[in-house]
Formats: sequence, C-alpha cells, structure tokens
Amino acid sequence: MEIVGTIEEVRKFVSRAAEAENVIGLVPTMGGLHGGHLSLIDAAHEACGYVVVSIFVNPTQFGPNEDMDRYPRTQEADLDACRAHGVDLVFTPTVEVMYGRGFRTVVNIAELAGALCGRSRPTHFAGVCTVVAKLFNIVGPCKAFFGQKDFQQAVIIRRMVADLNFPVDIVTCPTVRERDGLAASTRNQYLSPEPRGQAAALNAGLRLAAERIRQSHPTAAEVINAIRGHLATAAPGGKVEYVQIVDPLTLRDVEVTEGEVLVALAVKFVGARLIDNILVDSRTAGP
Ligand code: PAF
Repeated sequence: MEIVGTIEEVRKFVSRAAEAENVIGLVPTMGGLHGGHLSLIDAAHEACGYVVVSIFVNPTQFGPNEDMDRYPRTQEADLDACRAHGVDLVFTPTVEVMYGRGFRTVVNIAELAGALCGRSRPTHFAGVCTVVAKLFNIVGPCKAFFGQKDFQQAVIIRRMVADLNFPVDIVTCPTVRERDGLAASTRNQYLSPEPRGQAAALNAGLRLAAERIRQSHPTAAEVINAIRGHLATAAPGGKVEYVQIVDPLTLRDVEVTEGEVLVALAVKFVGARLIDNILVDSRTAGP
C-alpha cells in the first residue's frame, strides 16, 4: 500500500494503475475509519482493480462552532485498517496541499445544499462539494463510493457530477449499523454511555415510520409526529433538530407518503449531533 501526501504522487501512481487497465475506485474519507468506511472500501474492491482512499479532515465543511478541532485523527489505526482491507493508495494531504495560497473557488449546489442538514449547517455542503470536486480532479476515479447515512451528501454529489460533467460513477452503499441499529459514525465515539444508549431510538423511530408508511400511507405530518413522540420517550436526552419526509431526488418536503420517500432526521445529544434516514417505498413490503 502506498501512502502519499502530494497531488503529483497521487497522479503518478494512479496513472500507472490506469495504464495497466485498472478501474480506479475512490473512497473519500475524513479518517476515523469505522465499519461504514470499511464497507465502502470493500465495495470499491468488488468493482475496481485499484482502490484509493483519501484521508483529509476538510476544514471548509465545518462551521465556526463545530467539531473540527476535536474531530478524531486516528491516522495509524486508519492506515492499518486500509492495509487490512487491501487498499492500494492512501492520500493524506495537508490543508496547504488541498487549499493553496489565494484559494477562492467554491462549488455550491444552491437549493439542495440548503435543505435538511443545510438549514443548520449553511456552508457545509459547499465545503463538501468543493473538496470532493478537487479529489475527483486529483485522483480521476472511474467510481467513487459514499454511504447512504449521508443521503443528502450523496444526492448533492450526484447533482454536481451531472452538472459539471465529471466522468465518475457515484456508488451509494447501504448504511452500516451497530447491533442496536445506531448508524456507524465517527462521531458516535463522542457519546457517553447514557446518550449512546438513547441514540438507538433514531433508527427505531425510522423503522416504525417505515412500517406505518407501508401499512396505511399516512400524511407526512402524522409520521413526523409519531417519530417525534417516539424520540421524546426513548431519547429524552436528545434535542431534535429536524424530522422531515422529502422527495429523495429534490429533497423537498412531501405532504403525502406515497411512492418513494426519504424519512430523515438529525438529533443533538450532549457531545454529538447524529443523523440518520430511511428510504421507504410505500408500494413495497419492505425488508
Ligand atoms: O463523508 C465524509 O466523510 C466527507 O464529507 C467527505 C465526503 C470525505 C468530504 O470531506
């Protein structure tokens, strides 16, 4: 496994791999690797002959009062995990490498970036799009892998790829969960035992919602109230930031739960803001 910090080195190794007719796969990460990331790496291996992982805590996607400074930096463990999962190249740039002097350009997908998490994190997705666009230009992957837990991020990146003609196929992989249903996230480690116990209520609430939608197609307002009620009882330590039911392509609120809808939520516990979602098709029986 090669570990490199410069753009020139990435390009050198990737162009050799491409010359050898490998499909190039990219898994962009901010490190703190967990089961979710490893599933993306495994999916990349299934589909690609050469797998690149980037590890970069991207400052432009954090707001002023967010957790950028304490975001887990676990490089040695991350590199071990990459090795164990057969990664070919790890790109670990510094902020200076990614954002040189005078850097000004921002990629912003206006309306989509303002929905859901964008309401409380107004600059977040512009930071994500800008760094992902840069990574696509640096690595030149054929395929890039993202998790469904960050559904909004995946929708926005697909839009960016279509709008800016990036020749990359975006692959979204299922959310990996802990035993009690909590979605795997680097931020889960911020939780002390009590909120960690309550955090399982996010997924339980979403599953209840999915069941109701499939059974009786209630209005979105009814489902949202039911989820909020569940969270109030099962996760009293959490402050609900949003519970929304949206069209999975436009991320606009829907009023009726017919066809395919995304139920998404964000809840703040002491120490961590958690997100989760479930895609529900009211016409199918579900898993
Ligand atoms: O999902 C993440 O970890 C980040 O948003 C990403 C895609 C690596 C961009 O910094």
